[in-house]
Amino acid sequence: MNTDTKFKGCQTIFDRTGNALFPGVWNSQELFVAVTGPLGETYWKGRRVLDIGANTSGLSVEIARRGASVVAIEPDQSSNSRVIARSVLDDVIETEALDITLRSEGLFDSHTLGEFDTVMCLGLVYHFRDQQFVLDYLSTLKSRDLIVSNQTAPGNDLIMVNRMDPSVPVPVDFWKNYKDALSGWHPTRPLFERMLTYAGFTNVTALTDPTFNYPQKPFRSVTNSAYFHASYGRAVDPVASRYKYLAR
Ligand SMILES: C[S@@+](CC[C@H](N)C(=O)[O-])C[C@H]1O[C@@H](n2cnc3c(N)ncnc32)[C@H](O)[C@@H]1O
Repeated sequence: MNTDTKFKGCQTIFDRTGNALFPGVWNSQELFVAVTGPLGETYWKGRRVLDIGANTSGLSVEIARRGASVVAIEPDQSSNSRVIARSVLDDVIETEALDITLRSEGLFDSHTLGEFDTVMCLGLVYHFRDQQFVLDYLSTLKSRDLIVSNQTAPGNDLIMVNRMDPSVPVPVDFWKNYKDALSGWHPTRPLFERMLTYAGFTNVTALTDPTFNYPQKPFRSVTNSAYFHASYGRAVDPVASRYKYLAR
């Protein structure tokens, strides 16, 4: 494989010595640092981890190398990530005898996959029209910890900025041939932290430098601007909560 060109929308798969076997624009080693933060590498040893929207699974590989047992789900509807990295991924998993199960379920199938110590939902929540629905759904999974990332709007107001608003700087042609303004929102950090607590999560803490917001990133080639750790508390039914009248 030509490792000079980097695949767009893909995580790099590294070998044990740090050589890129499958080159992607998202750096899995940096992503590993972002999702580990102050938890420290030993956090992953012996953990059962669900990686939702695992992409090429380059990050899952890094986590499995630290002794975790990872279920990496990726539907890859456009056949532009896992499918093209698959032979490299299979080789790495076999050569290093990594404990990774590759599956193709989507986010909303996660509840069928059993119990985990850590659920990771990275680079996904802002791709849905209702972020709180996604967080409420995540709260119903059987897990102890959640690691979640998001694109965060700058500032401390309790607001969400529509991703299509001209004030949100996006790469040229990002919205070409795309018109749905409900494709996503960027909440500010204080709002997103509250949203996690409304979904029943507790101990919400930033894993990456909290001064970074979209379009900045805490590391050069990670996917999002903000990475958080939270503990599972109560579950919030994503459908029932939609029917609830909120006084005032
Ligand atoms: C922005 S990328 C983030 C990839 C990776 N989690 C990261 O943070 O580096 C979003 C990923 O979600 C996957 N995806 C799309 N729809 C999904 C769904 N319904 N459930 C789970 N993953 C989905 C995409 O194929 C893509 O790999």
